[in-house]
Amino acid sequence: MKEAFRLTTQYLTASKADVEIAGRLLADGKTVAIPTETVYGLAANALSASAVAQIFVAKGRPQDNPLIVHIHTIDTLYTLCAEVPKAALDLAAAFWPGPLTIILPKSDAVPDAVSGGLSTVAVRFPAHPTARAVIEAAGVPLAAPSANRSGSPSPTTAARVAADLAGRVDAIVADDDCAVGVESTVITLCTEVPRVLRPGAITPEQLRAVLGQVQVDDTAVAPLKDGDVAASPGMKYKHYAPRATAILLRGDASAIRTYIAEHAEDGVFAMVFDGEEHGLSVPFLTYGARDDDEAQARQVFEALRTADDRGARTVYISCPRAEGVGLAVYNRLLRAAAFRVVTV
Ligand code: TXA
Ligand code: MG
Repeated sequence: MKEAFRLTTQYLTASKADVEIAGRLLADGKTVAIPTETVYGLAANALSASAVAQIFVAKGRPQDNPLIVHIHTIDTLYTLCAEVPKAALDLAAAFWPGPLTIILPKSDAVPDAVSGGLSTVAVRFPAHPTARAVIEAAGVPLAAPSANRSGSPSPTTAARVAADLAGRVDAIVADDDCAVGVESTVITLCTEVPRVLRPGAITPEQLRAVLGQVQVDDTAVAPLKDGDVAASPGMKYKHYAPRATAILLRGDASAIRTYIAEHAEDGVFAMVFDGEEHGLSVPFLTYGARDDDEAQARQVFEALRTADDRGARTVYISCPRAEGVGLAVYNRLLRAAAFRVVTV
C-alpha cells in the first residue's frame, strides 16, 4: 500500500531522560508508542482533538472506535467524567493501577474524537511504571489504543510496534515485553448492571467479588448479531487477525493432531499448547500450556505474528478454555479466526 505520509520516528528507552522527551512530545501534541503491562499503546494527549486525530491516521483506525484514556492518579477521573459513582472508586481501589478499563459518563473535557461520539469515556490507570512515568511527564491524560496497525494482532514487544508503526508515529518508547499480553478488561458502569464488554486479565469473578452482580456481554464469545449495535464499537471490526487464515480446533491433543494430519498441506501451520507439539505433521508454534491461561495470554499475539513471519497460509490453533484469563485469550482468538471453530 502507498504510504500516505512519513514521519521521523524517534526511538527512546525507559530512561529518565527519554521519558522526559516522550512527555514533551506528547505535551506538544505528538504521538508516542509506550509500553503498558497489557500491550504496547499508541499515546496522544487525550484532551486535544488534533493530537488524538493523529492516532487514527497512524493506525488506520475507524473514527467511530473510541479510545481508552490513561491516567496516573485516580483524581483525574473527576476531570474526565461527568459522574464518578462509588462503584468506580471501589473498582479503582481493588484493581488500579492495573489491567482494568472503566467506562463512565464523559465530561466536556473529553473530545468527541476520543469517545467516538459516545456520551461515555473509557479510563484506565496502568500499572506499568514506564507508562505511568510518561503520563506524569506529559502532564495530561493520554488516549492510547493498542500500538498496532488497525486489525492486526496487538504488539507485546517494542520490535512489533516498530514493524507496524515506524514512520507513522513521532516516537516509540521501548521497554521489556508486556507481562499480561492481552488488552485490559473493559467494564461499563453505564448499564443497569455493570457489564464486561471485553474480557481481560481481571476476570468476571474478580469483578463480582467487588461489585456483586456483573454481566458479560454476549459479544465476548459470539459474533455481533445482524442489526445489533456494538456496546463496544471495537468489537464489531475484524480484529487481532494474522494474514493467514486462522481456525480454532476444539479437542484434546491427539484429536487435534489427527485433524491436522488430515489437512496437512503446504502453508499449513499448527499453534498448539506447550507439550502437545509431538507428532505434528506440519510446522508448529506453541503458546503456553493447556492449563496455563496466563502463559497463553502472554504469548498468543506474538505467536500469531510469528506464524505470518514464517509464511503460514492457514493456522490451526488449539482452542483455549474460556475460563479465567482464558476467556480473554478465547475472545481474541475467536476474532483472529473470524469465529471459525471446529470441534474435533
Ligand atoms: O490494555 C489496553 O486496554 C490497551 C493498552 C494500550 O492500554 N489499549 C487498548 O485500546 O486495548 P484499544 O483502543 O485497542 O481498545 C479499546 C477498546 C475498544 O474495543 C473500544 O471500542 C472500547 O475499548 N471502548 C473505548 N471507549 C469506549 C466507550 N466509551 N464505550 C464502549 N467501548 C469503548
Ligand atoms: Mg486494539
